[in-house]
Amino acid sequence: MHNKNNELGFSTRAIHHGYNPLDNNGALIPPIYLTSTFAFATAEYGAGCFAGEESGHFYTRISNPTLALLETRMAALENGEAGVAFSSGMGAIAATFWTLLRPGDEIIVNRTLYGCTFALLHHGIGEFGVKVRHVDMSNLAELRDAIGPNTRMVYFETPANPNMQLVDIQAVAEITARHRNLTLVVDNTYCTPYLQRPLELGADVVVHSATKYLSGHGDITAGMVVTRQALADRIRLQGLKDLTGAVLSPQDAFLLMRGLKTLSLRMERHCSNALQVAQYLQNHPAVEWVTYPGLPSFPQYELAQRQMKLPGGMIAFELKGGLATGKRFMNALELFSRAVSLGDAESLAQHPASMTHSTYTPEERAHHGISEGLVRLSVGLEDIADLLADVTQALDACA
Ligand SMILES: Cc1ncc(COP(=O)(O)O)c(C=O)c1O
Repeated sequence: MHNKNNELGFSTRAIHHGYNPLDNNGALIPPIYLTSTFAFATAEYGAGCFAGEESGHFYTRISNPTLALLETRMAALENGEAGVAFSSGMGAIAATFWTLLRPGDEIIVNRTLYGCTFALLHHGIGEFGVKVRHVDMSNLAELRDAIGPNTRMVYFETPANPNMQLVDIQAVAEITARHRNLTLVVDNTYCTPYLQRPLELGADVVVHSATKYLSGHGDITAGMVVTRQALADRIRLQGLKDLTGAVLSPQDAFLLMRGLKTLSLRMERHCSNALQVAQYLQNHPAVEWVTYPGLPSFPQYELAQRQMKLPGGMIAFELKGGLATGKRFMNALELFSRAVSLGDAESLAQHPASMTHSTYTPEERAHHGISEGLVRLSVGLEDIADLLADVTQALDACA
């Protein structure tokens, strides 16, 4: 059974892949290897580890059995060859950028991005000689025209944080595949592999903030990269080991694997709750607009149906009255917490202009599709009647 893991279903792999209790003293739950270093049987074996000729573990910033189990399990869920675990999503993204980009190279990114990824590009690698170019990735002609001889990476989130704009992964991959030395990287944080698997659609690398749905309980920060074996090895040996040192703690890897066991169940509930909240908001007179991939009014509804198994747990909406009303709504919430992050059991509400995207100037926000009154909801796992009651009383407070 354990040799046939790749033939097993998603939930079964999320619970079992890569682990056999009988290889571990019968322990049903994988042990946590809380060790920073590993002893070598001989000096020669140690030398072989350093030379890459032996596959053993030798230092946890490079590898550790608990991290290795998480990495193989995540690779199985994303349908990739290998994974690398990081101490945060930004660790995973930074390690990928620093490993694959050099001064003089160009990276093309979507117009809307998570705020710290935007900051890393413009205040990080952009200041070290990498040219950063934003295009609207829903406009494939714009992307096609933007790719030049120095373009080494195309990067986007879908759905994008926070405005929910989707990018057609397969269509972009067909364009990037025509260029040698061009790596397509997709941030799959909002969807998780349960809803969307970019590698199956032609992407080269998937990155995650595993802080969110993957771990699902709001108690760790973590990041993941999944890609081909050779590329994962480079990202591990350069991006992780030397350039960022952003290694995940084995204890947190254990919590992340515990979260993965219920990923499919949680995503189903996040999605069904979010759909009902989105439908309610859409019909409310105080609401200007709602973007949620599960609503037929969503501008890319057809793409959402084709690319995502379910529409996700995230909603963006704008109240009539803009910024001031948005703040009144936020302050009236009682069950939803006013908090950044997403993907937890608890429902969360945030206001990007004053929170996650405050590193943008107001002009940059407007240019990148983030209106000042936009409210972002991460719909949790609570009872839907209680969530709707909270949204109702908060909307009443705006009247
Ligand atoms: C889409 C997306 N990517 C990356 C990150 C960064 O992840 P972390 O906070 O784990 O560093 C976030 C965090 O909110 C995110 O929403």
